[in-house]
Amino acid sequence: MEGKAQDLGYPGAYAAWRADPQGWWEEAAGGIDWLRRWDRVFDPARGAFGQWFPGAELNVCANCLDRHVAAGRGDQAALIWDSAMTDQIEALTYARMLDRTAKLAGALAALGVGRGDRVVIYMPMVPEAAIAMLACARLGAIHSVVFGGFAAPELASRIADARPMVIVSASCGLEPGRVIAYKPLLDAALALSPHQPESCLILQRPMLRAALRPGRDHDLLEAEAAAPPHPAVAVAATDPLYILYTSGTTGRPKGVVRDGGGHAVALHRSMRMIYGLGPGDVFWTASDVGWVVGHSYIVYAPLLAGCTSVMYEGKPVGTPDAGAFWRVAARHGVRVLFPAPTAMRAIRQQDPEGRLRAGHDLSRLEALFLAGERCDPPTAIWAARLLDRPVVDHWWQTETGWPITAGFRGLGLFPPKPGSGGRPSPGYEVQALDDHGVILPPGRSGHLAVRLPLPPGCAPTLWEDEAGFRRAYLEDFPGWYRTGDAGLIDADGDVSVMGRTDDIINVAGHRLSTGAIEEVLASHPDIAECAVVGARDPIKGQIPLGVFVVKSGVDRAAAAIAAELVALVRERIGPVAAFKDARQVAKLPKTRSGKILRACIRRIADGEPPAAPPTIDDPLALEEVARALS
Ligand code: COA
Ligand code: AMP
Repeated sequence: MEGKAQDLGYPGAYAAWRADPQGWWEEAAGGIDWLRRWDRVFDPARGAFGQWFPGAELNVCANCLDRHVAAGRGDQAALIWDSAMTDQIEALTYARMLDRTAKLAGALAALGVGRGDRVVIYMPMVPEAAIAMLACARLGAIHSVVFGGFAAPELASRIADARPMVIVSASCGLEPGRVIAYKPLLDAALALSPHQPESCLILQRPMLRAALRPGRDHDLLEAEAAAPPHPAVAVAATDPLYILYTSGTTGRPKGVVRDGGGHAVALHRSMRMIYGLGPGDVFWTASDVGWVVGHSYIVYAPLLAGCTSVMYEGKPVGTPDAGAFWRVAARHGVRVLFPAPTAMRAIRQQDPEGRLRAGHDLSRLEALFLAGERCDPPTAIWAARLLDRPVVDHWWQTETGWPITAGFRGLGLFPPKPGSGGRPSPGYEVQALDDHGVILPPGRSGHLAVRLPLPPGCAPTLWEDEAGFRRAYLEDFPGWYRTGDAGLIDADGDVSVMGRTDDIINVAGHRLSTGAIEEVLASHPDIAECAVVGARDPIKGQIPLGVFVVKSGVDRAAAAIAAELVALVRERIGPVAAFKDARQVAKLPKTRSGKILRACIRRIADGEPPAAPPTIDDPLALEEVARALS
């Protein structure tokens, strides 16, 4: 966005996109180096809703690394790894990142990985996670990163679905007070998976070395050192760059696909337009590479834009204290910091006066962006006062890959109205629809939807499940993409996102399916039926809460069964689910047609009137839930 679009300001830029969407994206595509030009900017006849840049070829890794080295930025830090867990800091220059990535790509190629092959990456927050992602992109292979907080069965289901040729992992991850042995988790997942990779590359961390299985497992650093650097190959713009599994409404995660060309164009443009950053600027997204925020704004976008990206291994609090974010931001001269609201709430809870901010030179910090869940206004106000900087809540999803709504530093619309998620990014027409798909007037809450086609960077499909993509997102409101979020658009055009319309909950910025947790509870031999809802939590936003009914004849102590359910969720889904509370009731509240009244249970958990519908079967069941949750 050097040039034309930037000069337009937000209203002009948004109007320019509306007047000529293809012209807008064609201009944005000028920020990317292509190996072959597109046949058409957009072909509406391809895929579920059309495809961006068909016929074009590029290499995303070369756009992230090689071109910056070629342009003389080789000595600039590309990635600064700051580990509060190990007290280590490592700055990797663009030249060093390129060197390591090309060699790891060589190691993967030596194991047979090529264009279109999948590579699962199950890693803690170490530079090798980003290097492995980029190495896949260099080869035209498709990576699928799995968050480290998932348990073996979740990893196994992703391995079974993606069918990777190679898995890249580490001997261990580090959580406060404990070392998480990753390799046994990987081995357990492979024991469960019907698909077996041909090889595993394991990063041996010194805190805990893993036993390697001869023939299958290789030491990642040794393989990297021994491999010749691999050149960047030409990849079709419409080919998948990665698959990222996210929670759907069933226990089976959805494999969100990202195509390479549109993704590079949209992310590159977003860096200047939304965050106001360009080459040499330091950007810190305090998320995990296992989530979309980490894919887009720890790895791809900052590197596409020639920025320096900070990768942090640690927590906002407790590693060692609630000043960790200010320490890291000051140390590396961060210009824009992008954490989840939950992290701000955790810091605020432990250091409400912001005493630990003192002594850290945050003069280079210009703005705080928040996403992953709605930011409650008190937290946003607290952060803005503490930092004396604009705070921007912006809204997006795994499926979109970049913000649907935001404040736009590069377009002079900054900061957005407090309490809102900002205005639609050029590329998105957002409307609130009623249940029949009719556009609601300003101020009325409904289903937030994006008019098709989705812009570049958004998921074109689900992995090997185009029908599932259409069903999940396109069928409810023909001509629209259903976001699954409810919200409203006010008279000024500012969008407020209020919550999900399905059974997805947001726990500390992590997306979880209550349906998936219910499936685990229902598999316990004593459970007749159950419901899981997202109850309000002052720090994590929401936490899952289970209510269960036991089978007739079961007369064990409720506390013992609840403890087993908690352990079962941890074992099957993982600690990230933060499932710690299950309560027994004699009966679940239902409608006369047998539908469990989960919304009523959630309202009771949140201390609100249950607002039972007239179709309730037995109102006493609600009283029973209220008693159990009191
Ligand atoms: N590997 C293994 N275990 C992990 C893990 C990983 N990568 N990440 C988290 N866990 C575990 C934690 O150790 C914890 O286990 P416990 O139940 O034994 O304590 C559990 O999963 C929940 O972790 P977490 O969500 O980090 O909660 P917490 O209570 O330890 O910390 C916060 C609370 C608010 C500090 C923390 O949730 C946080 O930093 N949130 C921000 C998350 C974020 O950036 N989200 C944005 C995604 S876009
Ligand atoms: P994920 O796909 O994990 O990034 O989660 C996406 C979901 O998180 C969205 O559908 C929203 O429900 C929620 N979300 C993300 N950002 C925001 C935000 N700024 N405001 C409100 N909800 C958000």
